[in-house]
Amino acid sequence: MWEKVAETVEFIQKTVNCTPDYGVILGSGLGGFVNDIEVEYKLAYKDIPNFPISTVEGHEGALLFGSIGNKKVMAMQGRFHYYEGYDMKQVTFPVRVMKQLGINKLVVSNASGGVNPSFKVGDVMLITDHVNMMPEHPLRGSNDVRFGPRFVNMSEPYSKSMNAKVRAIAKENKIDLKEGVYLALQGPTFETLAEYRMVKAVGADCVGMSTVPEVIVAKHMNMDCIGVSIITDMGDEENIEEVNHQEVLEAAKKAEPIVRKLIKEFILTY
Ligand code: HPA
Repeated sequence: MWEKVAETVEFIQKTVNCTPDYGVILGSGLGGFVNDIEVEYKLAYKDIPNFPISTVEGHEGALLFGSIGNKKVMAMQGRFHYYEGYDMKQVTFPVRVMKQLGINKLVVSNASGGVNPSFKVGDVMLITDHVNMMPEHPLRGSNDVRFGPRFVNMSEPYSKSMNAKVRAIAKENKIDLKEGVYLALQGPTFETLAEYRMVKAVGADCVGMSTVPEVIVAKHMNMDCIGVSIITDMGDEENIEEVNHQEVLEAAKKAEPIVRKLIKEFILTY
């Protein structure tokens, strides 16, 4: 793995004259964030050695390098999901690459189903913690200490000081920012009513199919993370509606300007 990451990093450094400070993973319907970046280089995943290729509608596959104000960013336009058939090492490979490119701050976004009854479709939730219920762990197997320790401390998966900054930005901009715990299941089915009930009983506020593996691997390498989730549907029993991928994308699109504003201001001012 170390050598593969090094090969990919070498290719990127040869191709792209940019040393980013922030890594951003753009989730469902958040592709519009690219308009906030002054893009200097765009590398299609298919042209990057060792990179998997994204297959889901709404997820374009490219790495973008550029600036937001005087900050240098690398953004993943489209991520890799476990349900697509990739293993967890593939899902999290780009985060390894980010770290070796010198990135220590990771911003992740996603769409999720809300189970907290005070949430509604279109809400934006700051992820304060997560529950990992994915069936495979990205750090399973032999550990390469060049990346990080065998046993990773997960007491602060999402950075408290970065979260404080996001809250302040929300307040300044009168954004009604929810907060809560994100629970990861493998998908690709949306949850049954009983499963949404389980998610709630376990203590989570929303459920989705991504993010947790990437944050685990980021923490393995001692990166600081924030996560923002768009509530695209409700698994709340009183208000449950039939959910489909199109609706998820549409709800995510509606909340997109808010998430863009939060992430942009965060990167500009943190
Ligand atoms: N469940 C799981 N993943 C999701 C959902 C959901 O309800 N909405 C968007 N991603």
